[in-house]
Amino acid sequence: MNVLGPVDDIPLGEGRSYTVDGEMIAVFRLRDGSLRAVSAVCPHLGGPLADGQIDNRVVVCPLHLNAWDLTTGCSKSGQPPISVYPVREDHGRILLGE
Ligand code: FES
Repeated sequence: MNVLGPVDDIPLGEGRSYTVDGEMIAVFRLRDGSLRAVSAVCPHLGGPLADGQIDNRVVVCPLHLNAWDLTTGCSKSGQPPISVYPVREDHGRILLGE
């Protein structure tokens, strides 16, 4: 379990990247306030997924617009999957991990 910081660091509808145990993790705060965490490095050509546009289900990589489901990690456009991580809010903090 890692405390990444205050949930308010991430504006609603946006993502931020964090380095956790040497790995880049993108955490998104959906418009309903819920959190999603996925690997931050796009498996296509390494684009910054935390900077991608999101809706309530998918993130779209800003470089070539491939899309991934934020809950399953599955690609919507024929790319390899991305890793998804358990994440939740606790007393205004972002907790990553079980
Ligand atoms: S680097 Fe992300 S879609 Fe190409």
